[in-house]
Amino acid sequence: MLTNDTLTNDTLAQWDRDTFFHPSTHLAQHARGETPTRVITSGEGVHITDRDGRRMLDAFAGLYCVNVGYGRSEIADAIAKQAHELAYYHSYVGHGTEASITLARMILDRAPANMSKVYFGQSGSDANETNIKLVWYYNNILGRPEKKKIISRWRGYHGSGLMTGSLTGLELFHNKFDLPLSQVIHTEAPYYLRRRDPDLTEEAFSADCAAKLEAMILAEGPDTIAAFIGEPVLGTGGIVPPPAGYWPAIQAVLKKYDILLIVDEVVTGFGRLGSMMGSTHYGLEADLITIAKGLTSAYAPLSGSIVSKKMWDVLERGTDENGPIGHGWTYSAHPIGAAAGVANLQLIDALGLVENAGNMGAYLRSELATALEDHPHVAEVRGEGLMCAVEFAHTTSPIAFFDPARKVGPAISAAMAKRDVIARAMPQGDIIGFAPPLCITKGDVDQVVSVAVDAVKEVLG
Ligand SMILES: Cc1ncc(COP(=O)(O)O)c(C=O)c1O
Repeated sequence: MLTNDTLTNDTLAQWDRDTFFHPSTHLAQHARGETPTRVITSGEGVHITDRDGRRMLDAFAGLYCVNVGYGRSEIADAIAKQAHELAYYHSYVGHGTEASITLARMILDRAPANMSKVYFGQSGSDANETNIKLVWYYNNILGRPEKKKIISRWRGYHGSGLMTGSLTGLELFHNKFDLPLSQVIHTEAPYYLRRRDPDLTEEAFSADCAAKLEAMILAEGPDTIAAFIGEPVLGTGGIVPPPAGYWPAIQAVLKKYDILLIVDEVVTGFGRLGSMMGSTHYGLEADLITIAKGLTSAYAPLSGSIVSKKMWDVLERGTDENGPIGHGWTYSAHPIGAAAGVANLQLIDALGLVENAGNMGAYLRSELATALEDHPHVAEVRGEGLMCAVEFAHTTSPIAFFDPARKVGPAISAAMAKRDVIARAMPQGDIIGFAPPLCITKGDVDQVVSVAVDAVKEVLG
């Protein structure tokens, strides 16, 4: 029987527990009512409001995706217009819409010069799935059927499908799912704070990561390794910018053994680092680039695989030899997602959000550092652009992390939420992540930092 007497008996909360399978959720606790149901009803700028009227500053932009902020009527209107004119048509066999073709042009105008075409999907996971298929197809066309393994990094996040969950280097996404698949292997995470040898400089640690990668390639056989996938800045794995010299050292190894580079820009694409793309920010010469989240600021689901000219020429050859490419989704290049993407990229330019992300990111990082760096349990304040993190440890010198069972990160995130600011407890380690909408102001940053300081004091003294 449904009643409306109390919050726990509220109809929506009851339906939620009875019917809704939430992703990344402790299913049993939620079904038992031990975790709250939070129903978000509206958003404006950096704020969201729930159905109890509580307004919160969302310092994680949903799942670091609402880059232009909530409530932008320019995008809502573009979606409505597209839905009225043509809600759907497919993109198979050369079909397109004005929105999808325009968006492909706009993406390539913002991508590194060696990029050639855009394939559209719906999620970051499916875009990475596409990328791996394209890598395999490419090597088959080149007559290298053995060159198929993909190297990812521990703590990398690339999605939660069968292949993409395998690429993801977080054990929670493997355990009990029979993952990773055998074609995927993981190498060292570029996580300087957690290096095994405390005496290594950042440059020496980067060189060591590259040496470990090379040793893995040689042990497996270079002719069996097809591609390396990485995020410019590790995201879900802890918000960790690359240590000095990391990407040049890794790229040199990949070039030496003719291994493709897939740059996963699902989080970093379209401004979050204070540059339009993470690839240009770090000088990455990608063969494939994955985009999603910031492409539409999550106003509609849309993702993309940006394909380099080098790979495109081989794909064309492949279809001359084998017929049309056997890959496509019903919703590839969905017109509503594409219309949202066009309006979103226009808005990012019009509002100068890439520049604001760089400026506000630097301000957030320096204010967090000033306020927290000397705290005895703060191991590191780090970040790049509007991807920032504070990592906590039991002792900082020498470093010893908290027992995960203490759940220090989730406790700090909860103490912040109590004060109406959302920051994310990252899933592996006691790390609080900040990745607000790119339109965040100085005043908002000040509020985030002061709430973070109060929350740390409440939890750790
Ligand atoms: C870097 C990266 N790649 C891929 C994905 C997967 O995207 P989606 O959740 O849209 O499948 C994510 C999601 O957070 C991500 O952060």
